[in-house]
Amino acid sequence: FHVDWDLEAAQKQGYDWFMRKEIFEQPRAVADTLLGRLNDRGELVLDEIRMSPETLRRINKIVIVACGTAFYAGLVAKYAIEHWTRIPCEVELASEFRYRDPIIDPMTLVVTISQSGETADTLMAIRHAREQGARVIAICNTNGATIPRESDAVIYTHAGPEIGVASTKGFTTQLIACYLLGLYLAQVRGMKYGDEIAALLQELERMPERMQDMLDAQQQILDLAEELKQEKSFLYLGRHVGYPMALEGALKLKEIAYLHAEGFAAGELKHGPIALVSEGLPMFIVVPPKGRDQLRDKVVSNISEVRARGARTIVLAEGCDDEARAAADVFIELPHVSTLLQPLVAILPLQLFACELATLQGHDVDQPRNLAKSVTVE
Ligand code: G6P
Repeated sequence: FHVDWDLEAAQKQGYDWFMRKEIFEQPRAVADTLLGRLNDRGELVLDEIRMSPETLRRINKIVIVACGTAFYAGLVAKYAIEHWTRIPCEVELASEFRYRDPIIDPMTLVVTISQSGETADTLMAIRHAREQGARVIAICNTNGATIPRESDAVIYTHAGPEIGVASTKGFTTQLIACYLLGLYLAQVRGMKYGDEIAALLQELERMPERMQDMLDAQQQILDLAEELKQEKSFLYLGRHVGYPMALEGALKLKEIAYLHAEGFAAGELKHGPIALVSEGLPMFIVVPPKGRDQLRDKVVSNISEVRARGARTIVLAEGCDDEARAAADVFIELPHVSTLLQPLVAILPLQLFACELATLQGHDVDQPRNLAKSVTVE
C-alpha cells in the first residue's frame, strides 16, 4: 500500500501557490490580529506596549521605519496616527534613516514594521534609535526574531507563516497593528475623538467580512488579468491612504510579474505622470469614499482626465459612487468603509491581479527572481 504524500501540496491546501493561499487567508489573519483587543468596557487593550500611560503621553514625535511593503503600511499609519493622536509622525525607509543623522531623543517613539523581524536595515535603524535614547515598538509577524528582541516592546501580527516572497497577509495585518497602535495612543492621551475611536474599533471587527466579500468577487479580477496579460506597463493612482495603495499595488506587479508598474499620488498627475498616459495604457485608480473633504471628487476628475487621453481606467471605488462607475472602463466595487480603513479592502484586488497576471505568464510567484523573503544584508 503506497500513499503519495507531498508535504508542500498539503501545506498549500489546494491552492497552486502559497501567495494565492496567503491572499485568501487575509480575512482570517486580520481577525486573528484583532483578537482579544476589546475589553468589556469597549476599550482597546494593548498590554504588550509595556510603557506607562505617562510615558506615552509625553511622546512628542513618532518615526516609523521600515522597508518594502512594510514601509507602505507605515505610510498608511502616518495618516491614521496623526489624525487620531495629533502627534507628528514621519515615515522613513530604514535604509535612509540612520545615514542622515535623524533628530530623535527620549521623547521620540520609533515604530518599526517588519514581517520577518530580520531585515538588516530595519534592525540597524532600531540600534541607531535606541542609542539616541528613543523608545522602539516593533510590529512584527515572527515570534522571537531579532527585531522584536532588540525593541522595547512588540505588537505581534498573527498572520501565520508567510511563505510567498511578496508580502500579502503580512501587509494587511501590519495595517491592523498600526491602526490598533494609533487608536490606543489616542485612547491613552484622551483625545477628543472618543466616539470616532469606538466606531472605528467596531468597524475593524467587521472588516474580515468585508474583506471576504472582496475575495469572493475574485472572478472579475481573474478575467481582468487574462484581458491585460499582454500589457507591458501599468500605472496606479491614489490619494490620501489610497496613495500608498497605488505604490503597493505597483510593487506587487514589479515583484512577481517583472512588469513596469508605477504608483503615483493622484494630485501629482499634472506634475509629470500625465505625460506617460497613452492610448490603451492600463491605469488602476483608487477612489476615496465620499467624505467632507472632496478628495473623492478630485480623484474622479483625474479619471476623466486620463481617460480623455486614452487610458484604460480600472477604477476601485464604492459601489454607490455612480460618477466613478461612469468614468471607469472597468469598475471594481469596494464596500462602504471609513476612509482611513479603506486600504484593507482596496489592496485585495491589486494583490490578486498581480498574482494572477504573473501566474498567467508562467512565473513562480512564490519565489520571484532576484528577490529574497528577508533581506538580511545591506
Ligand atoms: C523583502 C521582501 C518584501 C518585504 C521586505 C521587508 O524585500 O521581499 O516582501 O516587504 O523585504 O521585509 P520585512 O520582513 O522587514 O517586512
